[in-house]
Amino acid sequence: MQDIQISKPLPADPFAPKPYSRNDWQKGYQSQPNEYSYWIDDIEGQIPPQLHGTFFRNGPGLLDINGERLHHPFDGDGMICSFAFSAGRAHFRNRLVRTEGFLEEQKAGKILYRGVFGTQKTGGWLANAFDLKIKNIANTNIIYWGGKLLALWEAAEPYRLDPHTLETLGQDHLNGVLQNGDAFAAHPRIDPSCQMDAGAPCLVNFSVKPGPSSTITIYELSAAGKLVRRHAHSIPGFAFLHDMAITPNYCIFLQNPVSFNPLPYLLGWRSAGQCIKLVPNQPSKLILIPRTGTGAVQILETEPCFVFHHANAFERGDEIVLDSVCYDSFTAIEPNTDFRDIDFEAIPAGQLWRFRLNLKDKTVSREVVESRCCEFPTLHPQNVGRAYRYLYIGAAHQPTGNAPLQAVLKLDLQTGDRQLWSAAPRGFAGEPVFVPRPGGVTEDDGWLLLLMYDAAHHRSDVVILDARDLNKEPVARLHLKHHVPYGLHGSFTPEYFGPQV
Ligand code: CO
Repeated sequence: MQDIQISKPLPADPFAPKPYSRNDWQKGYQSQPNEYSYWIDDIEGQIPPQLHGTFFRNGPGLLDINGERLHHPFDGDGMICSFAFSAGRAHFRNRLVRTEGFLEEQKAGKILYRGVFGTQKTGGWLANAFDLKIKNIANTNIIYWGGKLLALWEAAEPYRLDPHTLETLGQDHLNGVLQNGDAFAAHPRIDPSCQMDAGAPCLVNFSVKPGPSSTITIYELSAAGKLVRRHAHSIPGFAFLHDMAITPNYCIFLQNPVSFNPLPYLLGWRSAGQCIKLVPNQPSKLILIPRTGTGAVQILETEPCFVFHHANAFERGDEIVLDSVCYDSFTAIEPNTDFRDIDFEAIPAGQLWRFRLNLKDKTVSREVVESRCCEFPTLHPQNVGRAYRYLYIGAAHQPTGNAPLQAVLKLDLQTGDRQLWSAAPRGFAGEPVFVPRPGGVTEDDGWLLLLMYDAAHHRSDVVILDARDLNKEPVARLHLKHHVPYGLHGSFTPEYFGPQV
């Protein structure tokens, strides 16, 4: 049964002109050491008066320490931006997260820690050998949950910040849920209506202890931030798991077929991330953990592929449908190369795939839903873990080939319709976040908020799109006074954390 309209992959056109210049793209990776707080007054269009709440973003704010360049943006110290919307106005604030490592390195004026993604201390491999200290850089995601604003980085505890001032309050152990040194992933999912909690919303997150066999721990927190479920499971093999999808009954992971050889890391030749290798001809594994914590973990196999992010999943009879952004292979940033020089054409592009997991006969089928290079999916929060119609995702301007994200794509999974809003040639798009319009009835009644780097003015804009129709001009474009380096993830809370007006 065909349950989804798919687009067929198109052959790449090697003669098509590039919709961007590399120099423009690279400028968005300059550090932003300044911290600001101001009302945004340079606005095209109008901020919808109904848009009320705070849009938080996280991402590397510093791409160098005192001029020493980091090897990979994922190693950059986290910087939080907040955009507080109320009564048609918006207030901006940004602050770097004062992690322990950040404070030490700023004081020393040099790189003191090895980064997971290749940044090394000065002094060559001797200075790095057997140094396994990792800096919690709190740079991947930011959520407001249980009355706390938490900056997340998947290999360590969250950092808590004051949601009004973005002042760093210190590491947070979630009221005793975490122990010192415990990890808490950067990709929590919010179940809008948990069947185990009488329909109350809950936050579902995980941590991974990778090894020859890996341990996945699931945490579920109530809206008040109280632990309602926690259970741990051992799975075979080294697990590099960045994200997870949920349904009412399951947490779903895709275990990439990778191996980890720790020797070059221990010897200081390579970073931990550079020791991860895709194992050829090995299947990817889909891991289903029952959210109740009881019952067996199921592992199904599918073709080799690499996944960072899942879009959504839902249950349908004996089947689970999982939509994920897949890559043909894992691209490690080699030592002695600079990420700013990456050759987009030489590395695989993310594409949206749909997996169908048949729980009865333990088989998996898959097909490509969107072959255009895309990453950073978002959807209506009420449809997380449920059947859904609309997906929004950052995308390349052109339908073929790998390129930086410059556009937002809306997919109608029922009709196969596509809409694309593009900031090309000089705009570069970040992750879109869907915000429902209060009182909205249809699934796409809301706004998409995203940060866009405008190379023409070397500044960033917040773009507000009407999610019902991406062919229309943006509802509003808010020009910041400066740029914000390309970020990772963020979220929206209906609570307003700007200055009192
Ligand atoms: Co992510």
